[in-house]
This record gives sequence, structure tokens and C-alpha cells, in this order.
Amino acid sequence: MKTTGGSDEAKRNAGENAAEAVEDGMVVGLGTGSTAAYATRALGRMVDAGLDIRGIPTSFQSRQLAQEEGIPLTDLDSVETVDVAIDGADQFAGGDLIKGGGGAHAREKIVDGAAERFLVVADPSKADERLTHPVPLEVLPAARTTVADEVRRLGGEPSLREAAHKDGPVVTDNGNLVIDCEFGAIDSPAELACELSALPGVVEHGLFVGMADEIHVGTDDGVEVRRS
Ligand code: A5P
Repeated sequence: MKTTGGSDEAKRNAGENAAEAVEDGMVVGLGTGSTAAYATRALGRMVDAGLDIRGIPTSFQSRQLAQEEGIPLTDLDSVETVDVAIDGADQFAGGDLIKGGGGAHAREKIVDGAAERFLVVADPSKADERLTHPVPLEVLPAARTTVADEVRRLGGEPSLREAAHKDGPVVTDNGNLVIDCEFGAIDSPAELACELSALPGVVEHGLFVGMADEIHVGTDDGVEVRRS
């Protein structure tokens, strides 16, 4: 699993604190990444102890972990509501996030966006005054050149994400490619989000604007919960 950012202890504190918000009978969106994994493992222990929940994974990785943890799974077509989603972030500024470091942001946005409450779990290294992290775009393979041209027109510097343990590019769980786009400090995340969404061939971008209800920021000693 990809790991970025702060200490394992900080991530654990964030994830386990957010898992405490989950109650009997809930449908829970299960995020992707090393911090969300701590929440999923905590939920697995709660299920072992008798908690009755159903999880909706946001990626191959989160499905596999949930299965290992014995969390019963469902999908968006089979439920009326998603009570809560718990997911990580690559960077947050106020209530806005950049996600997609693991290339899972398209499914994450669908599940996190469907949830009544979206809880972000992060360590302090993810906090900033403004969003500056490259914005990942999941793109249809046929659109990689045209999207890259459009990103340059918008003032960004596109870079096709290369796989670490395979020749060639990263291929997402949905069979698409990822273009990481360097925009520097982003003045208006909402405006950029609209511009990126409008590009033909962009399946989803990693800007999550105004979606988070709470950000659980773990440290080595505890957790601070920031509410939007
Ligand atoms: C997955 O694509 C991402 O959106 C992750 O949620 C994000 O990269 C945070 O991952 P970590 O908790 O491992 O930093």
C-alpha cells in the first residue's frame, strides 16, 4: 500500500477516532489509502465485537482490506443511503481537499459524495493554508493527449503517472490513466474544479471542494476534529 505523510501513530489516531462515529445498522463508505486503512481495521474489530454494519469500498484495495477484516459489503445500488464515509486526503486547506494519490479518487468521490457525513482522516503533514498539491485527473486512455493540452491551456503542467512496479503508466481500477497536474497554489479550487470537470475525457479530478463535514487530524498524542 502507498504510504505518504506523517507517522503511523498519527494516522492510526485519526482513523480510529473517525471509526468511533460509526453506529449499529449504518452503511459506511470505506476509503482508500494508509490512513483510511486504520479506520477500516478498527471497524473490523468492532464488527468482530458485534457491530452490525455494511461497508461500501472505494477501490480494489479497500475492498480487499474490508474482506480480510470480515466487514460485510454492499454497493450503492443496494442501499437507500450511505450514513457515513471515512477517507483520507493528500492535502487539505479549510474544508477543501486534494485526493487521488492512490488513483482511487473517482470511486472515492462517488461514495464520499453520497454519504450523509463525510469524515476525512489525515495527519498534520496534509494541512496547508492553500491547496498546492498536484491535482490528479483520471482520464480515458484515448483522451490523454487532448486533456494534457487543455491542462496546459489552464496554466497547469501535466504529467502522466508512471507505475512503480510495472512498465508504463498507472492503470486505475476503472481501466483509465492518471494525469497529475501541477497548478502551483490554487486560487479558486471551486473554479478549477468546474474547468477540469468540463474537459472531454476527464472521468474525475481529485479536487473535493466543500465536501468534507469533519477532518480528523491525528497526531502522535491524540486527535483534533475540525468541522466545516
Ligand atoms: C487514494 O486515491 C487517495 O485519495 C487517498 O485517500 C489519499 O492519497 C490519502 O492516502 P494516505 O492516507 O495513504 O496518505
